[in-house]
Amino acid sequence: MSGREHISVLLREVLENLISNESGVFVDATVGGAGHALGLLSRNGKLHLIGFDRDQEALERAREVLKGYSDRITLLRGNFGDMKSLLHSAGVKSIDGALFDLGISSYQLASGRGFSFNDDEELDMRMDRGQDLTAYHIVNSYRQEEIARILYEYGEEWQSRRIAKTIFEDRKKDRIRTGRQLAEIVASVKKRTGKVHPATKTFQALRIAVNDELGSLAKGMDGAIELLSPGSRIGIITFHSLEDRIVKERFRNDEALTVVTRKPVRPGLDEIRSNPRSRSAKLRIAQKK
Ligand SMILES: C[S@@+](CC[C@H](N)C(=O)[O-])C[C@H]1O[C@@H](n2cnc3c(N)ncnc32)[C@H](O)[C@@H]1O
Repeated sequence: MSGREHISVLLREVLENLISNESGVFVDATVGGAGHALGLLSRNGKLHLIGFDRDQEALERAREVLKGYSDRITLLRGNFGDMKSLLHSAGVKSIDGALFDLGISSYQLASGRGFSFNDDEELDMRMDRGQDLTAYHIVNSYRQEEIARILYEYGEEWQSRRIAKTIFEDRKKDRIRTGRQLAEIVASVKKRTGKVHPATKTFQALRIAVNDELGSLAKGMDGAIELLSPGSRIGIITFHSLEDRIVKERFRNDEALTVVTRKPVRPGLDEIRSNPRSRSAKLRIAQKK
């Protein structure tokens, strides 16, 4: 991760492949730092962009970045899982394209909410600070077996039981308060392999559980696909295999869609060099029949 700035992943590929109607309504389901949104608006002079984010701070940043386009944007705070009802209440019945750029932004990683194992941040991990469930609650209150299940299912962590047992033993001595504490506990039972931090999968799993990321993804795809106009496209950028599999299966099995990318689009070496966060990104695109 390079500093706090968020660099949009696969920007050129998104700009070149997702627009079928230059004056249509496009949904950026994860507007975040608004890099993709800015590119889409500046390249398509009549496009109307509806941007969602469940994080109020992200939405405020997006509004600032997009201030030159205020007459062509609608920014909505909310979970893209509720896209259908949010769009309906905004009077939108059909859309001409959608982008989901999943996960968290570099701003959130550096936001002091415990997304990072490098800092002494409170274990929070909520994208939407209005919700109740936090990573602190899961780690300090859930049963050992439930923590193991979360790590296994959402992190594909094959040492899930050992890690859950150690978390359970450690929290009897004192509450696990920060990302760093949790990262150290995981590192005490799991050896580092290569450059990847041993707690990477644990953090991924907790973040997915706290934010119900897989449930939102399934619902968000349902809503977007239903509302897409014929011939328009949906593009989804994922950062780990669990999400990518869900998107791949959904695109392949939905009779309303034609798969545009039989293999996912990956960043080239130049992009990976200038933005290491992009290295695991995969973009899949499908078109409404
Ligand atoms: C990787 S960032 C998007 C970056 C953006 N494409 C850009 O170019 O700057 C992901 C954003 O999506 C938001 N997000 C993640 N899951 C969400 C959900 N279920 N509903 C709404 N927003 C979500 C996060 O809060 C974050 O701001």
